[in-house]
Amino acid sequence: MEFSIDPRTVDEIIAKIAAAENEPTLEVIRVAELGRHGRITTIARMIGSLPPEQRKHHGSIINQIKNRVEEAISERRRQLKDVRLEATLTASGTLTADATLIPGFVDVTLPTREAPFEIGRIHPISQVMDEVTVIFADMGFAVAEGPDVETDDYNFTKLNFPVGHPAREMHDTFFFNQKPDGSRLLLRTHTSPVQVRTMLAEKPPIRVICPGRTYRRDSDQTHTPMFHQVEGLVIDEGSHLGHLKWILAAFCKAFFEVDDVKMRFRPSFFPFTEPSLEVDIQCRRDKGEIRFGQGDDWLEILGCGMVHPNVLQNCGIDPDRYQGFAWGMGIDRIAMLKYGMHDLRAFFESDVRWLSHYGFPTLAGGLSP
Ligand code: DAH
Repeated sequence: MEFSIDPRTVDEIIAKIAAAENEPTLEVIRVAELGRHGRITTIARMIGSLPPEQRKHHGSIINQIKNRVEEAISERRRQLKDVRLEATLTASGTLTADATLIPGFVDVTLPTREAPFEIGRIHPISQVMDEVTVIFADMGFAVAEGPDVETDDYNFTKLNFPVGHPAREMHDTFFFNQKPDGSRLLLRTHTSPVQVRTMLAEKPPIRVICPGRTYRRDSDQTHTPMFHQVEGLVIDEGSHLGHLKWILAAFCKAFFEVDDVKMRFRPSFFPFTEPSLEVDIQCRRDKGEIRFGQGDDWLEILGCGMVHPNVLQNCGIDPDRYQGFAWGMGIDRIAMLKYGMHDLRAFFESDVRWLSHYGFPTLAGGLSP
């Protein structure tokens, strides 16, 4: 039985390796010689069964052959890799500013080009709506929606604004033309009509938030004719102001990402709540930036109160059995506060430079390498 390989055969193997044209060919040679059933492997295995005195001699020879072949393969593999890299670089080339392709030249100092999904940005309002929704969803709130074009009845009357009541004038309303029957639709002035729609459609216990667009005839640095609110509504047998305060504090801490917020509840007036309150949070203005949970300034962020018994009654809920609370918050305002934006009007100017600065990367963009 042959326990070695003729040195000339070994030279031939080495020559074949050096001449291998590509990595797959090289791999075929490697498997034929050093693979599990390869020539060298098989001989080495047979040597293992020889008596110890012979094993040493033959073993050392076959090991030398094995090492030589392995080295030759690694060396050739390195060379082939370099050739492949060179070919890729030559083929890819680079684009000049006027879009001509210079083959074989890659300028690594050029800025990278972002893929379309990396350039796209989520508008801060959409981002904040999502953040708000996630925080309240965690507390067990469902999301309810209603139309932007509302009836006078849902926007005002059922919310305890009697016809002709001066409180209606608090909202500068966009009305549509009057219909033959005398009624007229309007652009909802707040998200509170979604409370009405929810109470008419569902039985207590109710726990919803209603984010959406709202409209008023108003325009300056802190008012735009279209803006966004999120309404909250809880109706149950034992809900009370203590629950409301806890929910609002928990929300503010989560949203503004602070461990503690100080809140101030001031008496106020809304026709649909009794008592009515406005909520300020404590803050400190620091070189144009606002910090929460410290300082001695106060910032108004929302209106709230216990749902007025007339509203419950108007919506088919027995006020002797159920009570609840509600709140309404300006989304644009809390977005400006959280992300340090100063002019509300910029939200709606569709300036891509502003959006690429203040917008948020998409999840797909964020996950890209
Ligand atoms: N709808 C009110 C507004 O737009 C905000 C508001 C205040 C909503 C108190 C409520 C509430 O649900 O209870 O000014």
